[in-house]
Amino acid sequence: MNDAQHAPTRRAHVTGWGRYAPSHVLTNADLEKLVDTSDEWIRSRTGIRERRVAAAHETTASMGAVAGLRAIRTAGLEPDDIDLILLGTLTPDYWMPSTAALVKEAIGNTTATAFDVMAACSGFVYGFATAQAYIQAGLAKHVLVIGAELLTRFLDYTDRSTCILFGDGAGAVVLSASDEPGGALGIEMTTEPQGAYMIWLPAGGSKSPPSAETIRRGEHFVRMEGNQTYRFATKTMATTALAAVRKSGLQASDIALFIPHQANIRIVEAVAKGLNLPMEKMYVNLDRYGNTSAASVPIALAEAVNEGRLQVGDNVTIVAFGAGFTSGAVTIEWTADPARGPAGDAAVRPEDVSVRAPVDWDSVDPIPEALAELMARPGSVDVPLDDVAPGEPEHAHHEVHA
Ligand code: ACO
Repeated sequence: MNDAQHAPTRRAHVTGWGRYAPSHVLTNADLEKLVDTSDEWIRSRTGIRERRVAAAHETTASMGAVAGLRAIRTAGLEPDDIDLILLGTLTPDYWMPSTAALVKEAIGNTTATAFDVMAACSGFVYGFATAQAYIQAGLAKHVLVIGAELLTRFLDYTDRSTCILFGDGAGAVVLSASDEPGGALGIEMTTEPQGAYMIWLPAGGSKSPPSAETIRRGEHFVRMEGNQTYRFATKTMATTALAAVRKSGLQASDIALFIPHQANIRIVEAVAKGLNLPMEKMYVNLDRYGNTSAASVPIALAEAVNEGRLQVGDNVTIVAFGAGFTSGAVTIEWTADPARGPAGDAAVRPEDVSVRAPVDWDSVDPIPEALAELMARPGSVDVPLDDVAPGEPEHAHHEVHA
């Protein structure tokens, strides 16, 4: 008997989705001015062409609130219909309070329980699985799950092996309880702590509190053993995805679209190969956003739906890996009308959503010095999200190998 036959009647359906990315674009050519790298190296090794950088007034909470409110509008709900808010991030606004609490206030919700999920790039998928469990246990009716990340403020712009990879943004879904068939099916999650120091941020926690010395040593930035992380990712993503598919009582060939964590095109290609599927079954937008960690899967899911890549009745598998090492996957039978997405996005203007600032407190300028100079140069571009041409997986795939 497979796990699907044990599934409870109450199901978690995706009813809303939304995304937000800051308008400032940082291209590979921009990064050539900062570190010894080239557009050709970055494209051929990672598939990334550009990434977004949050403006000084933006934070993880503000981006998460816009994406979250868009997901709520797409679902046709009001903020107070949400009774649980889960936010995956490794770049919270503060150590405390949680970023989810700030988002709750910013979206005008007065009723929900809100907390953050720390699982690095797997944070959104871990949050999604937690939401599913709450719904199936009868503890929540509508859950807002957000992945939001502001990584560009935690990168060492003298380290060419990390600063080229990451970008900023947020994505969100609403999961709603229903007794109708479909919705979220099998879940698989893994945690392998032998990789704990393969990708990490050494200082600022209780082991190494912030000090002039930790700053001098550059320990407040993301550090990564790229090769080890790459090896873990290629090994684990396919097996985690496949486990979620099988727990749903399905085969890989039953999945219309995989939404993998957008870290590196070569990792996505390896996952496709591992699953014995063509790249057309893999959604790719990392060429335009880079790695947005916990935000990457929900941004990709929202874009895929809005681009018509998913129809009612399709099976989709979301799959992520990240620091920890962590990995997570959920297979979902899609039941929502894809046409609802663009209206949900249009209903929420970023300038209408604000996160309350602390009283009597002056923040320092949050933009890293190296980036501030670059962003101020003539020729630096701002692109509204809606002007970005939808990415085709083949384009990303072929141009990388051109
Ligand atoms: N430009 C030019 N050369 C570079 C750059 C750069 N930006 N970065 C590294 N190099 C050089 C290296 O110094 C090295 O030079 P050497 O041979 O003279 O020593 C050479 O390129 C090869 O370096 P590798 O690290 O072997 O390059 P690789 O092909 O493995 O690609 C990369 C590196 C892209 C980082 C890859 O390892 C990768 O994608 N790893 C996974 C990263 C990832 O997904 N991280 C996210 C984790 S999720 C989370 O939780 C945040």
